[in-house]
Amino acid sequence: MNTIRTTHSGEATNLAAFPLALTTLSGTGAAEIGDLNLSQPLEPLAVTAIRDAIMDFPFLVFRNQSMTKDQQARFSEYFGELESHIGKLSDGTTFPIVHTLTNLDAAGNLINMDVAKLNYFWHTDKSYYAIPAFVTILHALEVPPEGGDTQYANAQLAYEALSPEIKARLTGLMAVHDWQASRRNSGTSPATNEQIRERPPVSHPLVRTHPDTGKKALYLGVHVSHIAGMPQAEGKALLTQLTDHIGQDQFVYTHRWKQGDVVMWDNRCLLHRALPNYEIARHKRVLNRTVIVGAAPY
Ligand code: SIN
Repeated sequence: MNTIRTTHSGEATNLAAFPLALTTLSGTGAAEIGDLNLSQPLEPLAVTAIRDAIMDFPFLVFRNQSMTKDQQARFSEYFGELESHIGKLSDGTTFPIVHTLTNLDAAGNLINMDVAKLNYFWHTDKSYYAIPAFVTILHALEVPPEGGDTQYANAQLAYEALSPEIKARLTGLMAVHDWQASRRNSGTSPATNEQIRERPPVSHPLVRTHPDTGKKALYLGVHVSHIAGMPQAEGKALLTQLTDHIGQDQFVYTHRWKQGDVVMWDNRCLLHRALPNYEIARHKRVLNRTVIVGAAPY
């Protein structure tokens, strides 16, 4: 059975053979999908339908989910290879593949996590890798009663809205993404020598082409240290101008978390940032996270 639905851009889309219960949340490409239990194995047609949906809606949320870490890993692997994570946990061990973003310590006490600061800046996951992320998946186990939101900016819509003159100026520019610069830009504790060795700086096009849709998107964020071949001050001014542009309301969807939400987003065309708009020392915020390997940007 094929189903026809209408996308946010008003085009009729022929969904594969699995009818998703899809509700548009925002004109910036956010949608909610109902009627799926992600803790259980999904039939291949359902996976194909989700893969199709994320082409039109790069941000998807599934409500009222309850998944173990193993179940989250299984759901994530439907979309590709699970990505490892840079750095170490506070006890010196490496990050597990399904890791937890939390403001609790091992004993369950509220803490103010240094690394979370980085997430308060616009970024796209793992852009400091030569092969950056495709999707990120977060499962909300505990969320504050209010706030602790995450924002998603559609970098394709932002690119399309640029003037022809600015688009021409950006053509061929490469941005250098660097974990060390990311820590510096966000005021987070400096990268360790091991991290610097593990992840040397990489260059990616400032405007990347989506491998599935062919659409162009701005590709930048807090992980960028500079524009290759451009004087530092000029590059910084350009990056600030573009980041301010992307962060305008018309490109942004703000996700207000509910416990049990599973969200997944396409890092190839969305930037995101967490908002520190809750009492971090008072309310728990705990999300399990997986990241899927993408492909080299072009
Ligand atoms: C992230 O930046 O991957 C996490 C965002 C969040 O904590 O809301």
